[in-house]
Formats: sequence, structure tokens, C-alpha cells
Amino acid sequence: MKLNHSLMNNNFTMPDLAKVKQLLKKKNIILTQSTQVENFEKSWSKWLDVRYSTFVNSGSSANYISIKILQILNKNSVKNEIIVPTLTWVSDINSIIMNGFKPIFVDINLSNLSMDTNQVLNKINKKTLAVFITHAQGFNGLDDTLLKELKNKKIHLIEDVCESHGAVHKNKKLGTYGLISNFSFYYAHHMTTIEGGMICTNDKKIYEISRMLSSHGMIQEAKNKIFEKKMIKKYNDLSPKFIFLYTTLNFRNNEIGATIGINQLKTLNKNNKNRSKNFNLFLKELDSKKYFTDYKVIGSCNYAFPIILKTISIAKRNLFEKMLSLANIEFRRGNAGGGNQLRQPYLKEFLGKINFNNFKNVEHVHNFGYYIGNYPTLKKNKIIKICNFLNNIKI
Ligand SMILES: Cc1ncc(COP(=O)(O)O)c(C=O)c1O
Repeated sequence: MKLNHSLMNNNFTMPDLAKVKQLLKKKNIILTQSTQVENFEKSWSKWLDVRYSTFVNSGSSANYISIKILQILNKNSVKNEIIVPTLTWVSDINSIIMNGFKPIFVDINLSNLSMDTNQVLNKINKKTLAVFITHAQGFNGLDDTLLKELKNKKIHLIEDVCESHGAVHKNKKLGTYGLISNFSFYYAHHMTTIEGGMICTNDKKIYEISRMLSSHGMIQEAKNKIFEKKMIKKYNDLSPKFIFLYTTLNFRNNEIGATIGINQLKTLNKNNKNRSKNFNLFLKELDSKKYFTDYKVIGSCNYAFPIILKTISIAKRNLFEKMLSLANIEFRRGNAGGGNQLRQPYLKEFLGKINFNNFKNVEHVHNFGYYIGNYPTLKKNKIIKICNFLNNIKI
């Protein structure tokens, strides 16, 4: 039986196209970063409930800039460790390494695919500068113990919300708890600007640095014109429009991306509601003897449906994959980011010998965890059909 279920349906809509056409028809338009970018940043800050947002060209760029900001603000500190989950996107870990910090890895919980709080607390020491949490696949990765301990110990929280737009902890959106938070608007996520990302904060200084870091490190990107004037005076041997304060690259986005973002934001809440409704139906219909269903659903907002097998048989897993392929159900193994990052070749030179027994949950997800599409237009009948099909696989 062919179920023809793709990972994504078209996230870029006809109304988005109409808005882009309108933009392109304007006389003397500027298409590089300009008023639309500023409007999108303002609308996004309002939607999220933070003071400042910087629109960049990807979620990875947002990750990189956020950790670069920590480096700039903690230049003379002995703290050089950042705690990060083993189930995350590659750019979270590379941002840590590329900025000269040491990644300290922790296992995840199966109930929210996020960091195990006890492991985080056990790994905190005098060198811990920050915890870089990933709210994986729409789940809320926060708990009050973690928030309280980080506050008491004055350890920064940076939130990667690239997979969890609209998810909440205690009715407050994820991305408002950390010192800095990151979002991705890649095509497959809750909403899209085709490619794009956002750096969010309530801290004015961090915002100013994020603006400069996203644009060659140039002081003219700073909103604070008093600061700009001060720098021009300080570096009076330089051309005022070419003062580069930081080592960085160009991570800016543009007016087309922002136009799409503004329009997509209008339907984000409604789409998220449908995704959550679908998610709950998937959970209700799925056989809990074969599949893990004990998720921490409250506060979550998933853009994809996670399927974690209970079996630990590779033969059964292979059968599962074969059956999904035959039914034309598109899937990815390893949930967020392909599973256990500690197994990836890019990390080999940074890691000594790893005892994978210390990372049991992420290892299970690595080998037996999947996700399939959960999009707002998915119909009830289709979800029931997919679940019946999954429940009948002999695993
Ligand atoms: C958790 C997480 N962080 C960061 C990123 C990077 O975002 P982008 O693809 O926009 O660079 C992704 C991408 O899927 C992600 O899932």
C-alpha cells in the first residue's frame, strides 16, 4: 500500500509569492538588508516577546554569532566550557569549537529529546561558561530545576529554538528564557524565509554586537550612534564607513527573505495549532507497545512527528525502514540532526575515547529513532492510515 507521505509539503505559499512580486515591482527598490528586514525583526520580537532580534541568513549563523558573542564578552575569563546535548544540530557544536570553547556533552531524555538535567548539573564546574540547550523537534527542553541552578551559579543559558517555534515553558515562549536565543527559518521548519535565522535577546549590548557580527564586524551596523561616533573618534586614522571591530563574516539576510518572513508569521500560530492537533492524534493512534509515546507533550510544538522504536533489534529496524520505503513514507533516522553527534567524523579529532554507555538514550535514538512529516495541512484520515500501517509492521 502506497501512503505517499513526504517529510514536507510546500511551506512557501502563493500569498508569500504575491508579496515578493509586490516588492519586486516597487520603483528603486533596495533588495539587500533594509526596511523589510527591520520590519521583520520588529514583528518577530513582538511575536516572541523579546526586545531585540537580528535577522541573519541561517539558523547556523545565528548559532555561530551567539557563541561568538559569549567569546567577545568573556575574553579574559577562565571559563571555557559550554555544555551541549549529544542530540542537536552540527552547527551548535561547531559554533562552540570554532569560537575556541570546549564542548561538554550530555545525554538526552527520551521524553523531550533534550538534555538530561541531572547530567547537566553534574558536569557544571568552575570552567562552565554556558549551557547551550537545544529544544529538539518542538519539545520544551526546560525545567525549573535547570533554570534555578543556572541562575544560582551564574551560568549563561543560550537557547537553540530552531526546531521549536512557538513551544512554551510555563506559558512563556521558548527563546525568552536564555540570554540569547536562536531560530531557523529553513524551508522545512515551522515557518520559512527559504533560508534564514534569528538571534534574539533582551540585552541591548548583545543586540548591538549581534548586528555588527552579522555584517563584517562593521561599526556602522550598530544602532547606537553615540557608540559609532566614539569608535570613529577612537580610530580616526580609518575611513568612518570602514571600521571593522570584530573577526567575522557577512551573515546578513535580505528584503526578499524578510518579506516572506513577515507574511509567514501571520499564519504561524494557526499552523502551529494544527501541527499540535496532528501530533496528539499521531500519539493517540500509535501502538505504545511498539513505539515510544511517553513524551512530555505540554508546551511542545512539533514540526515533525518523532517515531522511536521500542525494539533494539537491528533486523526489526531494517524491516521498519523497508516497509516505510515501500509505502513511500519519507523518513529520517536519528531524529534531530542524525542522532548521536559523538559518532560524527567532524568531532573525531576533538574527542578522546568515548564510552557510549554514558549516552544510552541518544544511542537508542541514533539507532532506533526517526521522524516523519507533520505539517499543518495533514488530514485526520491520513494520520490514522499512517498509524494503522505503522502498528501493523512486525517489530
Ligand atoms: C536545532 C537546530 N539548530 C540549528 C539548525 C541550523 O539551521 P539552518 O539550517 O537554518 O542553518 C538546525 C537546522 O535544521 C537545527 O535543527
